Amino acid sequence: MKKLLLLGMMGFVLVASGCTRLDAFTGKIPFLKEDNNGQKIQQEQNNGQAVVEEKEDLTEAGNENETTSSLNDQQQQDENNEDILTLDGIYFNEIKEMNGHNIIQNPENTLALVNKQYGLPSTFLPKDLTRPNVSFSFGNQKIEKSYLRQEAAVALEKMFLNAKSAGIELFAVSGYRSYAYQDQLFKAEVQKVGEKKALEAVAYPGQSEHQTGLSMDISSRNEGLLLTEKFGTSKEGMWLAENAHQFGFILRYPEGKEAITGYQYEPWHFRYVGVQAATIIYEKNWTLEEYFNTVKKI
Ligand code: DAL
Ligand code: ZN
Repeated sequence: MKKLLLLGMMGFVLVASGCTRLDAFTGKIPFLKEDNNGQKIQQEQNNGQAVVEEKEDLTEAGNENETTSSLNDQQQQDENNEDILTLDGIYFNEIKEMNGHNIIQNPENTLALVNKQYGLPSTFLPKDLTRPNVSFSFGNQKIEKSYLRQEAAVALEKMFLNAKSAGIELFAVSGYRSYAYQDQLFKAEVQKVGEKKALEAVAYPGQSEHQTGLSMDISSRNEGLLLTEKFGTSKEGMWLAENAHQFGFILRYPEGKEAITGYQYEPWHFRYVGVQAATIIYEKNWTLEEYFNTVKKI
């Protein structure tokens, strides 16, 4: 007998997305693995996440004796346990609702999940901004966007040096942005393309990762030091996509995950999350949203 249970609401942090898009997406959820019979089983559950189970009850159908069945169950259990990912509670957003917005109360968290659902306080300014010693698209000017938080700056320097020794020349284009500057950028984009289109490309003030001081937009000479989609298929963009995790960075807005991140593909935008989380996200082909939807808080 087939059982199909769909319980609870998906915990994805999608504001722009309605149910229909979400339904279409559930078929591609990477952490829904298949068991030996090719059926989908949810590996881990999290607060308010969907529980999806579609599993043949072999014992009931009389196709399998009980001993084999429980052995299979044990194997499945062992595989599940290997896959359970845990993360210290300090790395999760602490949220306070203010005027209908979810505002992050621990914005210094290096794993802060900033998106269309969770915003930073307008007053948040990272304490340890520093200028990484890398090449910038705008030369040596010491302007706001050349800064990153200390930990991310050190990681960026390492990444750029490593790229150089692999024959890859990278240029940092835009790092830290204040709330006020993001406000200007957003308004300018709205003027240019209208609010709906602007929201696909530029974050609303308070909702940009650039305000965390943990994100850097990167380009190359070939792209004229500009942020282009073509960068994704250039040798520099491909090197970054394959190697950034080793330095703690993730490609934050991947192609095909627009319904999850809420933004168009940005092959140039790299977010520092630390080597451990970045490696998991890279290996599982997740977004930061999917990572938080899967890891278990301890
Ligand atoms: N372009 C990204 C989404 C930002 O504005 O932060
Ligand atoms: Zn960016």
